[in-house]
Amino acid sequence: MKILITGCCGFIGFNFANFLTKTNKKIRVVGIDNFSDYYSVNYKKKRLKELIQNRNFVFYSVDINQNKKLIRLYKKYHFNYVFHFAAQAGVRYSLINPRSYIENNISGFFNVLNLSIKFKVKRLFYASSSSVYGELNKFPLKENYELRPKNIYGLSKKMNEEMVNVLLQKNKTQCIGLRFFTVYGEWGRPDMFMMKYLNATYNKSKVFYLNNYGNHFRDFTYIKDVCKILKRLIYIKLKYKHLIVNICSNKPIKLTSIIKKIDDLTLIKPKIKKRSLQKADILKTHGDNSLVKKLTGIKKFTDTSVGLKNTVEWFKKNKNTINF
Ligand SMILES: NC(=O)c1ccc[n+]([C@@H]2O[C@H](COP(=O)([O-])OP(=O)(O)OC[C@H]3O[C@@H](n4cnc5c(N)ncnc54)[C@H](O)[C@@H]3O)[C@@H](O)[C@H]2O)c1
Repeated sequence: MKILITGCCGFIGFNFANFLTKTNKKIRVVGIDNFSDYYSVNYKKKRLKELIQNRNFVFYSVDINQNKKLIRLYKKYHFNYVFHFAAQAGVRYSLINPRSYIENNISGFFNVLNLSIKFKVKRLFYASSSSVYGELNKFPLKENYELRPKNIYGLSKKMNEEMVNVLLQKNKTQCIGLRFFTVYGEWGRPDMFMMKYLNATYNKSKVFYLNNYGNHFRDFTYIKDVCKILKRLIYIKLKYKHLIVNICSNKPIKLTSIIKKIDDLTLIKPKIKKRSLQKADILKTHGDNSLVKKLTGIKKFTDTSVGLKNTVEWFKKNKNTINF
């Protein structure tokens, strides 16, 4: 089985590529990334260093906007499955550099979708986001609820879902859109809450800015659960051409509670500056996960006490070398 993973040096792409190659030696994974400098390129290279230890993994430095390079890869490997994670991520950055979302998440996405259809990939999995829902007040959020994205990031993901609906019609390829909800864990993203908080915890010169005074709720989802789910989704029988599924734990937690849990694990309190709600932020995310449970048969998600413990331990072990 040959699988393409785009954005393999990013948080989710790296963890999933590593998990797949380690748990099934018969799967051949081709990973691509453009080492975008949205956050530390060195950190992405460290992830890649880990990945290339796996003999069934091969890396190409390719930007998804380089269509000719992508065509060469699709021709060479005839992928059975594609997992598309390469994107401009981040909600707040969408206020600073909206163009990056158009170029990477819309034009780039079109290339991956178009080639996956052309080369008859069996199933294309692509990263959408809980941000497509916007500020809805009906919880838990179900896949069939109306979408009201509040920022260019969420809009770009909504457009991905719509692009699939339009382009997929008469083709063999099936698509699964993955609406991720605040994924956290080992090798996490330095621009997201968890890694920022741990960085401030272990680096005395850093201040942690707590937005909305910590009153946000997030449906934190552990990366190892995500990896297990994604692997199961390869093998499920699917009657639909296009399915959209929430990837979440269905357990929203207030930021102040998560902070208390982390402090109890580290026994350190970082310098915190509280501030008001940031413009692009959503107050609460809480997804319904009954569909993903039904599809994959996974009934239990990792408890945050376990996920946080693993994340803190990983951070302590790696803090001197990750340097983000
Ligand atoms: N982490 C989360 O909690 C979360 C939540 C919702 C949605 N998502 C989505 O899941 C996907 C993966 O997220 P992540 O947290 O791993 O983000 P990430 O930024 O860590 O990973 C994205 C990777 O894609 C690469 N990339 C960006 N533009 C590219 C391009 N044009 N060509 C090739 N590579 C490119 C980056 O260098 C990076 O390594 C993204 O689409 C993101 O929007 C993530």
